[in-house]
Amino acid sequence: MNKPNMETPTVDAQLDAETENRLVAAARRAVQAAHSPYSGVCVGAALLDDVGCIHDGCNVESASYGLTICAERTALVSAVTAGARTFRAVAVASNLPRLLMPCGACRQFLSEFGPRMQVVVVGPGEERHRTTMDRLLPSAFSPADLNALP
Ligand code: THU
Repeated sequence: MNKPNMETPTVDAQLDAETENRLVAAARRAVQAAHSPYSGVCVGAALLDDVGCIHDGCNVESASYGLTICAERTALVSAVTAGARTFRAVAVASNLPRLLMPCGACRQFLSEFGPRMQVVVVGPGEERHRTTMDRLLPSAFSPADLNALP
């Protein structure tokens, strides 16, 4: 059985401009796939894994609203299904006129797979907010905590 990656990630270098642009373009494309008939908010996310592959995802809403899954978690589930376990970066885009920052659930989900992952959030224009997972979720509960029992 695959276990979560509990090692300290070693892939935390800044993205070069070309790679960041490719990741942002993938996130923007994924916005077009969003299924959001209830909120109208369309979100796309793209993850860059440690071998340079990009995995995308969009939000998928449910009429039972609480079952809705965010774009970031869709992308991660898709990436893990494809065999990826370690990620360098994630880009998030949406149809909102301002930046849509990852929600708390997505911060937890992503941070377990890359606490030092680069995060790039883009709005409709040129603006890009660059940060890291550990800045978005400081003092995170992590897989290592599960080994803390004596
Ligand atoms: N949403 C995401 O896809 N990612 C987030 O980080 C925050 C919110 C989606 C879920 C829902 O379909 C819509 O945005 C409104 O909450």
